[in-house]
Amino acid sequence: MEKGNSNAELFETAVQAEKTAMNLYLTLVQKFLHLPEVTAFWQGMLQDEITHARELESIRGSLNSEVLNAPADPSLLEKAHKACDCAILDKLESVADLDDAYELANEFEHSEVNTVFAALITDFTGLDDKARFASNELQVHLAKLMDFPSKFGVAVERKKMLVRTPVSQVPA
Ligand SMILES: [Fe+2]
Repeated sequence: MEKGNSNAELFETAVQAEKTAMNLYLTLVQKFLHLPEVTAFWQGMLQDEITHARELESIRGSLNSEVLNAPADPSLLEKAHKACDCAILDKLESVADLDDAYELANEFEHSEVNTVFAALITDFTGLDDKARFASNELQVHLAKLMDFPSKFGVAVERKKMLVRTPVSQVPA
């Protein structure tokens, strides 16, 4: 079995997708450091992604080599590769305000990243409780984003909350 299509590769790619999410939220934390409530929100999302990555790593660590070397579900592997496409990180440069940031977070959370996470937990733990816990965790994570407008206002209000001016762009 070639490594490129194995369950080991599937886990590696899925962990990479969670790390892409971590990078996304870490950058959003840094862009809104001047707004403590907003910073706290993105930090919460970042912490969730750290937990997701650790959970996947822990499941991978519990699998024997026979399972890890077995061929992965091709459609899941394809979704995992799509989810860790770093193109989303390139879009961070054009985030100018909190509404842009919210739209980007939504775009990412509605990509394949969470489908892959949920499928790996369900398919590889074989523990109903663990799968249920992870699915609750995911729902709480997504609910935070759905709650965003009630915390930070509608689009026109979010548009007024600008990102920190990068030091390189502050006039001398
Ligand atoms: Fe995640």
